[in-house]
Amino acid sequence: MAAFLVLILVLASSVANAGNLCPNFYENSCPQFESIVSNIVKIAVAQEVRMAAKLLHLHFHDCFVNGCDASIALDDTPTFVGEKNASPNHNLSFGFEVIYDIKTHVEATCPGIVSCADILALAALDGVKEVGGPSWNLGFGRRDARTANKTEAERVFPKINSTVAELIAIFSQQGLNARDMTALSGAHTIGAARCITFQKRIYNDKNINSSFAATRQETCPRIGGNSNIAPFDMQTPDIFDNQYYKNLVLQSGLLHSDQVLYDKGGSQVALVNKYSTDQSAFFADFASAMTKMSNIRPLTGNDGEIRTDCTIINKI
Ligand SMILES: *[C@@H]1O[C@H](CO)[C@@H](O)[C@H](O)[C@H]1NC(C)=O
Ligand SMILES: *[C@@H]1O[C@H](CO)[C@@H](O)[C@H](O)[C@H]1NC(C)=O
Ligand SMILES: *[C@@H]1O[C@H](CO)[C@@H](O)[C@H](O)[C@H]1NC(C)=O
Ligand SMILES: *[C@@H]1O[C@H](CO)[C@@H](O)[C@H](O)[C@H]1NC(C)=O
Repeated sequence: MAAFLVLILVLASSVANAGNLCPNFYENSCPQFESIVSNIVKIAVAQEVRMAAKLLHLHFHDCFVNGCDASIALDDTPTFVGEKNASPNHNLSFGFEVIYDIKTHVEATCPGIVSCADILALAALDGVKEVGGPSWNLGFGRRDARTANKTEAERVFPKINSTVAELIAIFSQQGLNARDMTALSGAHTIGAARCITFQKRIYNDKNINSSFAATRQETCPRIGGNSNIAPFDMQTPDIFDNQYYKNLVLQSGLLHSDQVLYDKGGSQVALVNKYSTDQSAFFADFASAMTKMSNIRPLTGNDGEIRTDCTIINKI
């Protein structure tokens, strides 16, 4: 009973916090915030189109670890270990440089006002829009954590060999349902993965298209080539569209954990079929799932802080 009450309180407080986020949070305190972010993201994506995927990935990896609190941006310190070297983040070429660049410009314009967590959330949205994807409702007012948790970052993310049931459970721990999970997986319509993450799949997996496997094998050998990258979506790697689901239907998902969404008889098959033929249904569900994800357990009010430098907590 006590545990049940605690759960209710925790859920109630996270909902209340998310409710505190509001779209015009910086209207008076930093009216330039949104244009600064969109201008810098636009330039960054024009220079390197993969940046859109990196920014989206960064926001996702921030939110799943203790909420959207910019904990992911913290470097290691003598008193805690950051999340950057957690195995799901290790060696990922994240778009941190874009986030830091935005922060520098925002601090020059409105010092001490805008959190790194809000920058991460808006940069993800602008990146997706820049490559043709949908927009979503996004509130602001997140504050930045004063700590990070590498152990939690090692624990919370899907594994490349996750089953559908595991994926559903992982997302459900964050308040996201199976439909949200399947829609959010569509983020793999952009971006790329390293050979080491799909090597087993292209040489030794069921439910794979043989011509797709042969193409991927050209640059991902059976042994070695770990860091060679391949696009998640071979057809339109730089456009945010519903091609990811069309690929799944053709057994051409890059990761094992992508293709399991379309395993024969699986719980997500009908939804994948729908998204593969109805891009606006995908966009609508993706947008609503992104709004939910960006509202995961934010720090608001007097919790946390507005970091001056996204990589280190403020001195007090
Ligand atoms: C970090 O996360 C782990 C679970 O992954 C938890 O057991 C631990 O208490 C957390 N540490 C802190 C300092 O919150
Ligand atoms: C997935 O791989 C990990 C090692 O990375 C292993 O511990 C786990 O048992 C695997 N799970 C499945 C379902 O194969
Ligand atoms: C990750 O980076 C380290 C160097 O920081 C390197 O030794 C290692 O091979 C890399 N791993 C992969 C899978 O690329
Ligand atoms: C394999 O991929 C090719 C090229 O996309 C496609 O024409 C074919 O129908 C696919 N095969 C299956 C079984 O999905």
